[in-house]
Amino acid sequence: MPTVSVIYFSGSGHTTKLAEAVHKGAASVAGVKTNLIAINGEDIVHGRYKNDEVFTKLDVSDAIIFGTPTYMGGPSAQFKAFADATGGKWFTSAWKDKIAAGFTVSMSPSGDKLSTLHYLFTLAMQHGMIWIGQPEMPLQPNGVNRLGSNSGVMAQAGQESPDIAPSEGDKLTGEILGKRVAEYALKLKK
Ligand SMILES: Cc1cc2nc3c(=O)[nH]c(=O)nc-3n(C[C@H](O)[C@H](O)[C@H](O)COP(=O)(O)O)c2cc1C
Repeated sequence: MPTVSVIYFSGSGHTTKLAEAVHKGAASVAGVKTNLIAINGEDIVHGRYKNDEVFTKLDVSDAIIFGTPTYMGGPSAQFKAFADATGGKWFTSAWKDKIAAGFTVSMSPSGDKLSTLHYLFTLAMQHGMIWIGQPEMPLQPNGVNRLGSNSGVMAQAGQESPDIAPSEGDKLTGEILGKRVAEYALKLKK
């Protein structure tokens, strides 16, 4: 049975809501095991993850979906610390041929989120992973892909609380990505 892991950092809860939606989509696919993992920035010291359990789960995953808020036009420092801590995996090509995808939340409609998704893509490429994009058409009546991103899932929080933002359409976009990744993980396993 393939495993899909969603690993993310969230400072004030918006990315958590999107991560939960992505995880829901992945978990909706029968025959797939899933993990939803929140990054605790304090666990990462000098490029090393103190929590071995997290890497154990990722090592046995067939797909890893990365999520981070956009802070100053890129991934949050806490996510970057996690990414740096994956350096040991790079040395051994441990994540080569795993499926990867990404999502991000920012305050503004743009907010330079594309830089964040491109960073997540680069991280996946460094590991030799296989990137799954976001092919949903923009401007759908249900708000799916309303921000028009194909590199990964973008969501916008504005200045609303996580109870309200990201929007239902943004979360549905995340759910669709999670489902797509899980379906590919299943295909690859076969
Ligand atoms: C340090 C910091 C930097 C930020 N930089 C940006 C930015 O570059 N563009 C943007 O649109 N929003 C920016 N924001 C807003 C966050 O992206 C937004 O509040 C997001 O919903 C936070 O997600 P979280 O609740 O998961 O932490 C920034 C917020 C913080 C705290």
